[in-house]
Amino acid sequence: QPVTILPIPFDWGASRRGADKGPDAVLIAGLADRLVLLGRKFETRSTSYLPPLAADRRTLLRMKEWGRVHAMSEAVAKEIATIVTTGAFPLALGGDHSISIGTIAGLTQFKRRLGVIWIDAHADLNTPETSPSGNMHGMALAVSLGLGDSRFTGIGGGRSPKLQPERVVLVGVRELDEGEKIIIRQHQITCFTMHDIDRLGMARVMDEAIQIAARGSDGVHVSFDIDSIDPKDAPGTGTPVRGGLNYREAHLGAEMLYSAQIVTSADFVEVNPLLDNSHLTAKLAVELIASLLGERIL
Ligand code: ARG
Ligand code: MN
Ligand code: MN
Ligand code: MN
Repeated sequence: QPVTILPIPFDWGASRRGADKGPDAVLIAGLADRLVLLGRKFETRSTSYLPPLAADRRTLLRMKEWGRVHAMSEAVAKEIATIVTTGAFPLALGGDHSISIGTIAGLTQFKRRLGVIWIDAHADLNTPETSPSGNMHGMALAVSLGLGDSRFTGIGGGRSPKLQPERVVLVGVRELDEGEKIIIRQHQITCFTMHDIDRLGMARVMDEAIQIAARGSDGVHVSFDIDSIDPKDAPGTGTPVRGGLNYREAHLGAEMLYSAQIVTSADFVEVNPLLDNSHLTAKLAVELIASLLGERIL
């Protein structure tokens, strides 16, 4: 299956600037060469599908820059839907994690029972009411579950919720806001924290995550926030949290996802090259994407 790379240079869902340089950083770090080596056919879309976002200054204390996030999300949903109709594997390069509002809205126009594996230090389950920051990248998964402002939950053609909580799995979580804990309990969302990974091991956690996300689904989307990885290995990200996945756990997770043959699309988000002079983070993203798409050691 060919891969279509969709660069989404957008950082208005976060409070620190620079995640909009993520797609270029990952491409410059050699993503294309890596896919050629793998023998995967791919194409890279231009960013011309994005409307001019600079002009849209609609904002609120509890939904910062919502006008820009909204315009980006509608454009991304449309573009992802187009990619799905070509039969390609959509690979979205963020950008901050608010881009997943649009990718999931686009995918679920076709896949009504989409499973999601959300690999992240955070849960991104805030609503405007619970968010301590007002940053919309912390609300992306909530929106996809139909929680929050209706301008966002209805993106990409109205149907909401886009996802069913029983097919959503969080992996790598270690920093939750109080309101997010309540939402996880209320909706019984499976949440594998770093505590679980330490106790059970990454292999067991990924086996269970794959099973839960895939059960009864018509596809599984992997939304990979690079801040799931420990800041020692992935320093270039806007909201780093100590105690994350190590280099090997992250690779094992990506390899297991490929082996399971369930993944139908992916996001790689929150790479911020302005916070990483070494470009370690973008290089790591390239390696993880390659593993997710089938690269093996032997
Ligand atoms: N929970 C915090 C908030 O709502 C941090 C969210 C970080 N999200 C991310 N995609 N990096 O502001
Ligand atoms: Mn910027
Ligand atoms: Mn995130
Ligand atoms: Mn995060």
